[in-house]
Amino acid sequence: MGVDRVRWGIVATGNISTSFTEDLAVLGDEAVATAVSSRSLESANKFADEFGIEHRYDDWRRLIDDGHVDVLYIGTPHPQHYAIARAALQAEIAVLCEKPVTLTAKQARDLVSVAHENNTLFAEAMWMRTNPVIQAFFTDLAKGTIGEPTDALADFGFHKPQLPARLLDPALGGGSLMDGGIYPMTFVHMALGNPDELKAVGSLNDDGIDLNVAMSWRYDSGAVAAITCGLRSQHPFTASVSGPEGSLLLPSRFHNPPYYIRSTAAGQERVDVPAHGLGYHYEAAEVMRALRAGQIECPALPHAATIEILELLDQTRRQIGVSYPGDDEYLGG
Ligand SMILES: NC(=O)c1ccc[n+]([C@@H]2O[C@H](COP(=O)([O-])OP(=O)(O)OC[C@H]3O[C@@H](n4cnc5c(N)ncnc54)[C@H](OP(=O)(O)O)[C@@H]3O)[C@@H](O)[C@H]2O)c1
Repeated sequence: MGVDRVRWGIVATGNISTSFTEDLAVLGDEAVATAVSSRSLESANKFADEFGIEHRYDDWRRLIDDGHVDVLYIGTPHPQHYAIARAALQAEIAVLCEKPVTLTAKQARDLVSVAHENNTLFAEAMWMRTNPVIQAFFTDLAKGTIGEPTDALADFGFHKPQLPARLLDPALGGGSLMDGGIYPMTFVHMALGNPDELKAVGSLNDDGIDLNVAMSWRYDSGAVAAITCGLRSQHPFTASVSGPEGSLLLPSRFHNPPYYIRSTAAGQERVDVPAHGLGYHYEAAEVMRALRAGQIECPALPHAATIEILELLDQTRRQIGVSYPGDDEYLGG
């Protein structure tokens, strides 16, 4: 694609759409938000006025049909991602969709197929993968600084007296696992790969929403990992990986960390890596790089990992008994 300035369309005007659009400004003239859709025109207009966006819609279908964008960013609750991403890809508009990109692996596999059929870029907005501190952390790990990694620990959980309604609503894909658990799962998947065995336990509320979850992953290599997530308490929010020569630790909040800590026989060292903005412009830049290169997969946000992690989420949900409307059609395929 020969575009100098990539035109972004934003679907939804909630929290993450606001942060993402704010961070697009870090990319200067390379990126511009040209369209926004909301369920209400009033909200679309307010968002558009705040960010200087030209085209405003009260329906994402019209945003897609009007063709004023090169790439769509989807910031709705998880259950809405699939239909919107599918429609955009079928219209040959590239997609960067919030995590989890779908509720099930089957849906994610379908979106990857649709991306291929339409030769159009598709990526999950798993922003921690593009974070410079995290990239330096994994470069360090790959160098063998701590030897062959055998153990990982990762945790993501918080509590607020008034939790956002979507986190407690099954119809909106609520629960700690899909919202937060996907981050420590991604960390361990990056550190140790796809596990050979997964065991999970969780506490659910009366609506069947998981309030906290603990997972154990085992690898035939002998490696193991412990992963926790929750909505009931303030967690340490750290992630670490260990090997015979030492450990690497991402401090709170590990998915957007201020630095990392390397502990080896040489001692303990804090490793600082320059980072700026809110942290979302890195994934946007990766998507734009892939778009310009004519790729349908962004190397930093790989399809295979998106699908494998959704398979692990499917398995975990089955083990702890969390289901969402539509699972009968999609789960387990
Ligand atoms: N990458 C990150 O750091 C990060 C952080 C938080 C969340 N997320 C992900 O981003 C997504 C949205 O999270 P959020 O925290 O931004 O949620 P949010 O503040 O509730 O915003 C979601 C927006 O989606 C739109 N929407 C469309 N259909 C909806 C429905 N049926 N019910 C409610 N809202 C609906 C609404 O915008 P309109 O009123 O304009 O239609 C709403 O404001 C989730 O998938 C979440 O996992 C990612």
